[in-house]
Amino acid sequence: MPTEQYHEPPDELPQDVRTFARMCTSLIEEAEAIGWYAQRLALERDSAAAAIMRDAQNEEFKHFSMDLEYLLRRTPRWRTVAERILFQSGDILEHGEEGEEAVDAGNDDESNPPVAPWSGAPATGSPSAAASPDSLGIGGLRGRDA
Ligand SMILES: [Fe+2]
Repeated sequence: MPTEQYHEPPDELPQDVRTFARMCTSLIEEAEAIGWYAQRLALERDSAAAAIMRDAQNEEFKHFSMDLEYLLRRTPRWRTVAERILFQSGDILEHGEEGEEAVDAGNDDESNPPVAPWSGAPATGSPSAAASPDSLGIGGLRGRDA
């Protein structure tokens, strides 16, 4: 089944970039599902139905978070920005500027590729970043629903 997740001809893209693109698409779909459940929950008056929807939305939170972690493990520059924004208290915009400055500071290093799906070198500074990208530590993702 054709999809529009590729912006460039898929047969010209390396396998790791195709996987990266699929995971980006999955991340988008999980975020959309979270938003759809938020809308449904805002209108649902049946408490049992709402409880089921909340449970389903919790699943989407998990899926989104796993997708994001997968992508961050493979993209050190993205992780650099995310580490300065996510789970920080204070001004989000300020943290965003700090993250951008941090990643811009690393752009002088030409060995750091501009697009960075998994390169084989783990990111530093985070215990989870040292893990193999193929070992998410959460069990296989086979059979997971989107
Ligand atoms: Fe999902």
